[in-house]
This record gives sequence, C-alpha cells and structure tokens, in this order.
Amino acid sequence: MAARRISSLLSRSLSVSSAFSLSLGKNFNRGKSIHRFSTAAAAAVEELITPTVQINYTQLLINGQFVDAASGKTFPTFDPRTGEVIANVAEGDAEDINRAVSAARKAFDEGPWPRMSPYERSRILLRFADLAEKHNDELAALETWNNGKPYEQAAKAELPLFVRLFRYYAGWADKIHGLTVQADGPHHVQILHEPIGVAGQIIPWNFPLMMFAWKVGPALACGNTIVLKTAEQTPLTALFAAKLFHEAGLPPGILNIVSGYGPTAGAALASHMDVDKIAFTGSTDTGKIVQELASKSNLKPVTLELGGKSPFIVCEDADIDQAVELAHFALFFNQGQCCCAGSRTFVHESVYDEFIEKAKARALSRTVGDPFKKGIEQGPQIDPEQFAKVLRYIRSGIESNATLECGGGRIGSKGYFVQPTVFSNVQDDMLIAKDEIFGPVQSILKYKDLDEVIRRANSTRYGLAAGVFTKNINTANTLTRALRVGTVWVNCFDVFDAAIPFGGYKMSGVGREKGIYSLNNYLQVKAVITPLKNPAWL
Ligand code: NAI
Ligand code: MG
Repeated sequence: MAARRISSLLSRSLSVSSAFSLSLGKNFNRGKSIHRFSTAAAAAVEELITPTVQINYTQLLINGQFVDAASGKTFPTFDPRTGEVIANVAEGDAEDINRAVSAARKAFDEGPWPRMSPYERSRILLRFADLAEKHNDELAALETWNNGKPYEQAAKAELPLFVRLFRYYAGWADKIHGLTVQADGPHHVQILHEPIGVAGQIIPWNFPLMMFAWKVGPALACGNTIVLKTAEQTPLTALFAAKLFHEAGLPPGILNIVSGYGPTAGAALASHMDVDKIAFTGSTDTGKIVQELASKSNLKPVTLELGGKSPFIVCEDADIDQAVELAHFALFFNQGQCCCAGSRTFVHESVYDEFIEKAKARALSRTVGDPFKKGIEQGPQIDPEQFAKVLRYIRSGIESNATLECGGGRIGSKGYFVQPTVFSNVQDDMLIAKDEIFGPVQSILKYKDLDEVIRRANSTRYGLAAGVFTKNINTANTLTRALRVGTVWVNCFDVFDAAIPFGGYKMSGVGREKGIYSLNNYLQVKAVITPLKNPAWL
C-alpha cells in the first residue's frame, strides 16, 4: 500500500512549477511558479499550504475489507500538476464487481441496514459527517492532489458542502414514509416506500467527493446497499471516505467501492443482473451506453447526470462588472470542468463591447498555478486526454474564425495547465458553441432581443442549467420559464445547496439528484390492499 506524504511532494512541486515557462501575454511573470497578470494578487498567492495527508487506501473495499483485485492488477493514479504517479491502485474488473455485488446483495437481503431503525441509520450518517468534518483538510488535500482543483476550494467550499449533504440525508432517513390512500371500495390501502435494493453508482473525476455524496447520501438514507465505481482518474478520496463510514459504524457489505476503468468495471456494474438500480454521472455518450447496458440486462432503472452547454445570458440592463465576474466564475470554476459550466455567454449587443473588454481583463487576471498555493484560482486539467481535448477545441475556435481575445495555449511543459481563454464573436454553428469543452474556454456570443436569445439558448441537445443576469423581474420571469433546463440561476451561479434538486432536460440526463427528489431514485413503491370487513367504516 502506498503511504507517500504529500508534504514532501509539495516541496518538490515548487521546483517543478517554477519551470513553467511562458506565453501568456505581456504581463506574464516569467520564471515565477504562478501565472498571474495582476500584481494585486501577487501577495496572496505566495504562500504554500502544506496539509499533511497519506495515501493509506489503495485497495478495493468489499464487504468491509480492503482487498486486492481478483486479477492482482493495479493501475497508476496521477498528480495532474506534474503527470507523476502518486499511487498504484487495485484495478477492479468484472470479477471484482461480482464480488462487490454479492456482498451488497447479501447485506441487503440478510443484513441489518434495510432492517435497522431509520433513526439508527441517521445516527451513522451523522457520525460519518462528524468524522468527515474532522478530516476536512486531509480529504481536501487528497482531492486536490489527485484532481488538481485549488486546495482552498476543496477545503473551504467542497468539504463543508460534502459534510452538509450527509447531515441533510441523515435528516431524511427517519422521515421517509408512505401513504394511505382512499380506494373506491371496501379496502384499506397502504403505500409503502421501500429501499430499492443494491444500487450501482458510477461517478466522474471532476468532483469526486461531491459526486460520492450526491449518490451515497440518498441511497443510504433510504436503506439501500451500494457498489460504487469511482472514476479511473480519481480513485483515492472515495476509499478514504468509505473507510470513515466504517469507522462511523456502518456494517460491512453496505458500501462497497471498486476502483477501475469504465468499459470493464463500469460496464460490468451497469449490466449486472443483481443490481437493482444504476446512477451515473459523466458524459452523454457514456450515459447512453450505461442506459443500454441496464436495459439489455435486467431493466434496472437508471438516473443520468450528463453533459451540458449552459447559456449564461447577460441582459442589457445588467450591472456589467457583476455580470462579467459571475460569467467568469460560471465558466472557469473548477478549471471549467463542470457539467453545468456557463459555456455560452450570451451578451446583449448594447453592452457587448464593454463586456468583452472586461471579460478579457478578468481572464487575464486569473491566477493559475499550483493548486496548493493560497490565492490560486485555477489548477491543472485532470489528465492528458482532457488537456488535449481542450486544446483541440481552442484550435477549432481559432480555425472557425472566432476572435481569440486571450489565452489559447498551455502553461509550462509539465502538468496540464491551460491558459484562461476567451473567444468573442462566437457563432452558434461553431463547434466551440455546440460541444462540451470541459475546460477554461469562455465563448461569448452577441444577441439582439429576448426572443432571439431564448431560441438560440434552447437550440442545443443539452438542457442542464442556465444563468440569467438582469435587474428586470419581467425579463427574469420570461427567461426562467422559457429556458428548457433543469436549473436556472438568476443573478447567481453554481449555488449547490443540498436541498435543491439538480439534473437535466433533454440529453443532459434523466432524473434529479439532491433534495427531496433524489429519494425517489432509491425507493420502491409497494401498494398493500386489505379488505375492510366492515364497509360501514369505509
Ligand atoms: P465518462 O463519461 O466516460 O466517464 C465517467 C465515468 O463513467 C467514469 O467512472 C468512467 O470510468 C465510467 N465509464 C466510462 N465508460 C464506461 C462504460 N462503457 N460503462 C460504464 N461506465 C463507464 O467521461 P470521461 O471519459 O472521463 O470524460 C469525457 C467527457 O465527458 C469530458 O470531456 C466531459 O465533456 C464529460 N464529462 C462530464 C461530466 C459531468 O459532470 N457531467 C464528468 C466527467 C466528464
Ligand atoms: Mg470516457
């Protein structure tokens, strides 16, 4: 088992990142480890945060035990700052999925979890939340090390929300109940809400812990057992979190974690005959495969959180400085690796020129560098594939004659850092306006009136989210009703409260996660009908 300390890697990373070269524009601070344009940000980014974390868990977690893969195989997991291997992790495949599913099946059919009082379940979820809170900085450091996201974002925003999500679901555990209904006849009818059984869950790499919470929280609150497959890029934090769940008193077999690749472990889970439900977050293409595998096997119900091309609409009455900042955040947050990224910035023609100048200035002031440094807004992309994909789309934008306002290349020669990039003069039929880029590339489009922007915003196969920026309540009401998306943020963006449902229209997905709506994904509905012996009491 790997047990490397991150602090030693961090000190090495300083010399690595100081090798970053160039090419970001006239104000780029050559020779420094951080790409920045504004001296105001300089003081803030110097200090290196050095959390201490060890990689203690690299095996599969099946039936409460850490075990090697049946094949004995392992695969490397990387530090996106450098591309260096940070650990070798057990590589689960179909055989390991079989083992994990039988553990989860037995735990569901015979074990305590579905039979435990819901109050007891909620107490375990609360104990887990307390432990996760205690280990906030270690979990955040491991997340940053494996994913490349800014440590401050992970530690101060994502981990607190992670903890909050489990407390939210702990609150639900003992409030899930059915109904009685009045039938048209002499019958007493109860509608029972029961756990669905063994839940298969496949998560992506952009928010490894957050996706763990969105999936595991409602499934456990409802009394199910779980086999969760992590993304091959980011296997580490789910193993740590699942270990903490067992420390919190979760009995074995209820939460099983299999690391491994999609076409092997993921496909085996989606097509398994003993899995009662599958929940997936990732690309639309893989979502289609997962749905097909589920339907070809046992018709298990599927929830899908897929890609997006979310419009962010800046109206003519908007406060431009605020709109620029919010549009910047909507796109660049998490290195642009968000399913709901506001990746089509529609700006009214009357404020377009001013907006472009300010959006460009804001992108140029974005601090990019070692995500463990204070004040860093953007770390590396996750891996060489995503990095190459983003650079391909940037080339495509240039070739299709969008105007490259800033950025456009990589930073340095090591790791997967991409310059914050802004295109203006983007047209609807360009690939950068149609496809999910999943990187720090803002595309700005000009529009004339509301009817036009509604039509253009909706003319996409996706329907995940939208941002609307206006001071006019009538404009806001018109847009929020007209946009065919699962979430509309008005004068805000990326507000991810535990109670707010999230999911997509159209090819952005099926079903909703978070909030009360997420519970239905993990419940069966049973009608129980009993004759009433004395119809006088009907
Ligand atoms: P992906 O959708 O292929 O991977 C997501 C998860 O699905 C991973 O756990 C992966 O191992 C698993 N998977 C892959 N192939 C599978 C299969 N045949 N059967 C079952 N599971 C499978 O996404 P990928 O390849 O990492 O990224 C490609 C693009 O997807 C990104 O560039 C981005 O556009 C989009 N994406 C969207 C995300 C979202 O939050 N909606 C998250 C990650 C990626
Ligand atoms: Mg893939």
